[in-house]
Amino acid sequence: MRKPILAGNWKMYKTPADTQAFFEAFKPLVADATHCDIVICPPFPNLPAAIEAAKGTNIAIGAQNLYWGREGAVTGEVSGHMLQAIGCTSVIVAHSERRQYFGEIEADVVRKTQAALEYGLMPMVCVGERLDEREGNRTEEVLAAQFDGGLAPLTPEQFAQIVIAYEPVWAIGTGKTATPQIAADAHRFIRVKAAKKFGDDLASKVRILYGGSVKPDNVKNLMAEEEIDGALVGGASLDPKSFAAIVKY
Ligand code: PGA
Repeated sequence: MRKPILAGNWKMYKTPADTQAFFEAFKPLVADATHCDIVICPPFPNLPAAIEAAKGTNIAIGAQNLYWGREGAVTGEVSGHMLQAIGCTSVIVAHSERRQYFGEIEADVVRKTQAALEYGLMPMVCVGERLDEREGNRTEEVLAAQFDGGLAPLTPEQFAQIVIAYEPVWAIGTGKTATPQIAADAHRFIRVKAAKKFGDDLASKVRILYGGSVKPDNVKNLMAEEEIDGALVGGASLDPKSFAAIVKY
């Protein structure tokens, strides 16, 4: 019922020329993939090349961040309005690296998610606990606080249009994937929170992606979990063959 999303987060990798080369190799590998939505999120300078290369394909292009205003004296920022104008259709919000290195907090999640929706972008909102929080048995407390602060303030109409990505920080870029069981438990916890706030219908429809060291050899077991509606993939999305293998889990 929930269509899977396989999304690649390129982080701060690749130039526009690398982007072109990636798409040349990647497009034919996934041309017949209709079982899922495919999204690639390159760094800002590569967006035009990616959008051009993805024209007429089943691949959507997203950004990795946005500012919540339309325009203004905000040096160094990029708005949802600008992303929409060039043909982006989605955006990652509050990735743990944004939280960790740039101090993004739940209030930013609300503002950015609402701005994304205002400009027709599908927000993929990231939540997830750090290693010390998991080891301190605080995973549910952390997820609850992120949900209450960042997602509960949305209207039901807004919540209906978002995607959530559960990315345990200890699994990102470490090669330590959450087991399908750990991920599914966290997804279920988030969905129960969503049901309490927005009702069973919206909660059963929201897509929750898993992110954190997803690779071609572990994606199948993760995707076998009913609760896991897709993946947000960092490192393994940089190589066309490896990301295509993940798309075709
Ligand atoms: P990773 O990154 O797949 O390299 O662990 C995932 C992410 O940060 O979205």
